[in-house]
Amino acid sequence: MLDWSETEPNNDPKKNVHPAFDKNAAPVADATGLGEIERGGARVSVDDKAMINCRADVNQLLPLKYKWAWEKYLAGCNNHWMPTEVSMQADIALWKSRDGLTDDERHAIKRNLGFFAASESLVANNIVLAIYRHLTNPECRQYLLRQAFEEAVHTHTFQYIVESLGLDEGELFNMYREVPSITDKAAWALKHTKNLDDANFKTGTLESDQDFLKDLVAFYVVFEGMWFYTGFAQILSLGRRNKMVGIAEQYQYILRDESIHLNFGIDVINQIKIENPHLWTKAFQEYLRGMIKEAAELEAGYGRDTMPRGFLGLNAALCEQYMHFIANRRCAQIGLAPVFPETENPFPWMSEAMDLKKEKNFFETRVIEYQNGGALTWD
Ligand SMILES: [Fe+2]
Ligand SMILES: [Fe+2]
Repeated sequence: MLDWSETEPNNDPKKNVHPAFDKNAAPVADATGLGEIERGGARVSVDDKAMINCRADVNQLLPLKYKWAWEKYLAGCNNHWMPTEVSMQADIALWKSRDGLTDDERHAIKRNLGFFAASESLVANNIVLAIYRHLTNPECRQYLLRQAFEEAVHTHTFQYIVESLGLDEGELFNMYREVPSITDKAAWALKHTKNLDDANFKTGTLESDQDFLKDLVAFYVVFEGMWFYTGFAQILSLGRRNKMVGIAEQYQYILRDESIHLNFGIDVINQIKIENPHLWTKAFQEYLRGMIKEAAELEAGYGRDTMPRGFLGLNAALCEQYMHFIANRRCAQIGLAPVFPETENPFPWMSEAMDLKKEKNFFETRVIEYQNGGALTWD
């Protein structure tokens, strides 16, 4: 199973003095990297690199400071996949058959696809238009660029599913504006990116740095780290019963990508905390716990809407219990007290679903296919 818990953020306090507390600090550098070039400027010192409000040139990847970010970039590249490499034949036959799926299963599948179809774009837009500008570290930006591409691959997956099954594209992609339980989640997340969306938004004050952390929690911890996980559980539970196995395989690859996205987000939050301990006040921690609790409640509403009656091995109550389990786990990962009473994981098989290599040789075969397909002509 993929486990990123060993790649702890750098927590040597001497190396992490924030410029705001360092009297000798040079002014905060141009955060975009697109400002005027400082001709003959001094070479980058690793100690000047910082997650936010950095004073080192953001255009220089080396020297690396945050090896965990670079490792995740390499892991993302090693996990490369494309949705079109997964056969949809069995799914098409099942979807078109009259009695292969119950009405409840069809309803849940469509809602699930509809939720993901627009969510992948929301997450991508937040990375590119909100997070990237303010995360002032080149190795983290290198990972964000990789992640942005992966989100494009995930959106491609939903295009490919719609095309393969002959689904109504408008129904699926517009679902986040038509189905209230999905709209509620998207609107909740967007509320937390609103401040960053303002062209005049800048980090560097207590309030704006906390706003940035709220965005990271809303998108990495909640969207990708909580809501996506119940979505994966729904489809993978069908896959375990040999239903919609193509989509289930694609979801396994998405889940593997998302588990790295989530862990990157957690490392970013924890590293910002280390470098800016003044942001992590008791009141702010309570605010974040409130966010996570609210998000779990929205997910419970979505579960009831998606699975009004439930089906074999899966129902709204189990999904709610799973959400409570996951919410507490996410709190622990960013150093917050749990928000729900301790509960067992009702889907222990989810952790196995992340370990693809045990069951498939997909990546071994793909390399050969890429080599065979390498005869590109340019004329
Ligand atoms: Fe994604
Ligand atoms: Fe993601």
